[in-house]
Amino acid sequence: MSRSTEQPRWSNQIGFILATTGAAVGLGNIWKFAYMAGTHGGSAFVLIYLLCVLLVGIPLMMGEMTLGRLGRSDAITSLQRLAQTHHAHPAWRYLGWLGAITLLCVLSFYSVVAGWSLCYWLKAATNSFYHVSTSHIQTLWSNLLNDPVQLMTYHALFMLMTVGVVAQGIQKGLEKAARMLMPALFIILIGLVIYSLNTPGAAQGIDFLFHFNLSNITPTIAISALGHAFFTLAVGAGCILVYGAYLPDQAPIARTVLVITALDVLVAILSGLAIFPLVFTYHLSPASGPGLMFETLPIIFSQMAAGRWFGSLFFMLLLFAAWTSSISLLEPWVALLVERFNFRRKPACYLMGGIAWILGLVTVLSFNHWSNFKPLLNATLFDLITDTTTNLLLPLGGLGFAWFAGHYIPEDALKKALNFKHVLSFKFFQFNLKYTVPLGILVIVLEALIK
Ligand code: PFF
Repeated sequence: MSRSTEQPRWSNQIGFILATTGAAVGLGNIWKFAYMAGTHGGSAFVLIYLLCVLLVGIPLMMGEMTLGRLGRSDAITSLQRLAQTHHAHPAWRYLGWLGAITLLCVLSFYSVVAGWSLCYWLKAATNSFYHVSTSHIQTLWSNLLNDPVQLMTYHALFMLMTVGVVAQGIQKGLEKAARMLMPALFIILIGLVIYSLNTPGAAQGIDFLFHFNLSNITPTIAISALGHAFFTLAVGAGCILVYGAYLPDQAPIARTVLVITALDVLVAILSGLAIFPLVFTYHLSPASGPGLMFETLPIIFSQMAAGRWFGSLFFMLLLFAAWTSSISLLEPWVALLVERFNFRRKPACYLMGGIAWILGLVTVLSFNHWSNFKPLLNATLFDLITDTTTNLLLPLGGLGFAWFAGHYIPEDALKKALNFKHVLSFKFFQFNLKYTVPLGILVIVLEALIK
């Protein structure tokens, strides 16, 4: 049980907003958003994604954060306390365990992909893409994926960066990193967008992202957009719950969540505006899938006049975004070990970083030695881990948090924590939390299971 000596806190509201925006803004907003928009018809995906964020993501984030603020501990202990206070079954604490397992799986592959960003940032900064042929760039990419030692090394370096920050604690680690990295991320992103929008493909890029045509929307697109909304907002695994547990008592959750989601969506849209105009300027395909960032973009950097600078800034952006998110994937485990198992923070960080690194080897090997090992649905282990966590575990966890917050936390307590200005907004939130969120989630989970 919890010994909860001294509950850590964010130093202020801005620190909290930056750290939680850092959790939300990550590879999902840049790497995943761009390739998914690219392969799922651009604007059709963007439109559904925005709707999902509004109707499902926002109420869920508010609900999950409130559970943390009221439970004031790691996810499992918080749920256990709240279940006791509000007469829910004690088995609700297993929802916290489900989240913890999800976070560990996400961290394991996330750190490998972030390692690619680190590797490509070094390549761009040392001008490795300058005036090289397209086939050379394709070879660089396949060489990286085929080389487990290189992949493990970058994965290890990135995990060390993550552990290094989390080990410093809430204010000196998580918050300080977010205060430095998030403003830098926005500055770099805006610079890249300005550059891209001044290239000849700008109009086509904008059209690709925003020319909404309802007839392009298919069920597959809708479901991918919903799954993506969970991933990008970091909801459904208890990470937001734990960040909420460090909030000061008076913080107005509703307003804070609106700011965080607005920033998260803004980063995704700006990344699209930085990437697609260039893709069209250089007559490349927007639909190249997960390799968009590591094959298509370097081809562009090799031909651009300012390719070295644009390329290094771009991968630095990706790296910063990934870093603040991986920190948020590790912190809930550290909170859990410290609160429930009496660990000290540093050993807890090393232990969980080490376990996540070892688990990440499954991802590493699924690109080379195990690339033909497709135990289920003709998918590699990497595909299985990413799909199961994004389309099944995060939504299921989200369903649990929404259900618990919507059905067990008394209306007065929710109202007080969320601090809505208007009754109507609270009613809208409550309706979505109780009905739209579970319905939306059920649809993705069923689809994922049928597939
Ligand atoms: N939101 C992060 C991204 O968009 O890359 C990923 C993520 C972080 C997912 C934390 C889940 C989580 F708990």
